[in-house]
Amino acid sequence: MPRLQTLAVHAGARQPTPEYHPVVPPLNSSVAYHYDDMTTLDAVFAGEADGYVYARYGNPTVTAFEQALAALEGAAAAVAYSSGMAALHAALLASGVRAGASVVCATDIYGATYALVARLFAELGVSSVFVDISDPDAVGKAVASTRPAAVLCETVSNPLLKVADLPTLADLAHANGARLLVDNTFATPYLCQPLALGADLVVHSVTKYLAGHGDVMAGAVLGSEEQAHTLRENQKLLGANLAPEPAWLAHRGLRTFWVRVREQFANAERVAGWLAERDDIALVHYPGLPGHPQHSLAARLFEGRGFGGVVSFELRGADRAQVFSFMDALELVLPATTLGDVFSLVLYPAHSSHRLVPPEVRAALGITEGLVRLSVGLEAVEDITADLAQALAAANA
Ligand SMILES: Cc1ncc(COP(=O)(O)O)c(C=O)c1O
Repeated sequence: MPRLQTLAVHAGARQPTPEYHPVVPPLNSSVAYHYDDMTTLDAVFAGEADGYVYARYGNPTVTAFEQALAALEGAAAAVAYSSGMAALHAALLASGVRAGASVVCATDIYGATYALVARLFAELGVSSVFVDISDPDAVGKAVASTRPAAVLCETVSNPLLKVADLPTLADLAHANGARLLVDNTFATPYLCQPLALGADLVVHSVTKYLAGHGDVMAGAVLGSEEQAHTLRENQKLLGANLAPEPAWLAHRGLRTFWVRVREQFANAERVAGWLAERDDIALVHYPGLPGHPQHSLAARLFEGRGFGGVVSFELRGADRAQVFSFMDALELVLPATTLGDVFSLVLYPAHSSHRLVPPEVRAALGITEGLVRLSVGLEAVEDITADLAQALAAANA
């Protein structure tokens, strides 16, 4: 009989394979895995047998989440990461972006993505061209003249809600030997599956709509089995894995993703319409509004399912101080730096999501001092608009 000290370490730790099947995939937090013999372990290490050896190389809870997400995006495979930014970094590397290569990137894109390409990759010897992704001629000229390794854009952009014509962009990228990388965080697979529209890799900040409850930070890259193999081999070296606990939570969030976003996107459409009617709002950016420059493109790409859950708007004549008064006066809608949660959230792009973008680039893009980004949650629309109305009145007092 082993001594108590030994039992404390080993007792109850390893159950034999159970005869029953849990309805929900269990949380498996083991870092390492052992087999009945070393030959099997060696075969798993070599990739000749299925299994797990070490959590940075793979984990059953993370695999279950990856398989669920791949199914939703119509992808052969998914690789999960510790954040959306880790996923973007991995997708660019896996697309051959390294010293001497170039990237054509949408100017209207999440601020940290902009800085990753314009600053960090630039320091590593990657050149970049930023273009208005809604102008196919400009994109065509940029890819033809730079022959980039990758074209990077968001299906629906952060924060100005521009819509990317993915089939056209895929043709332009492929005609010039580039891969099209699409960040589908705002649109989600509810609105469209970029891989089916010609994209080569899809990236998600799972932190947002897919997990959906504001309690998980995660990312994912989706593509072919071959691309997933490259991503996994790189992940073994870079180590930005998604841990089992957030993977389990993200998978739980994913089960209600469809109904959450259906409701949130419908709420956002109503809130955008309500904002567009107001005199104290100078401009509303929302692809569901008939006046949006890519409204008909969005209707075609998203096939009538909706236009997303984020609405950006400008307070008429407002400077930063007045926007802050508006945000301070909100009681239901939370001024917090994220989106896609069940809660309605507002953010001031100039000082948070796009803080890393130089002020002159922000100004040229239309990210003005009066711009607010609203992520519409699952509350009753009447409660959301009542809160916005009272905060606007307070800011204008
Ligand atoms: C469109 C988009 N992509 C990527 C990211 C980065 O994701 P994460 O915060 O999970 O690293 C964000 C974050 O806000 C985002 O809005």
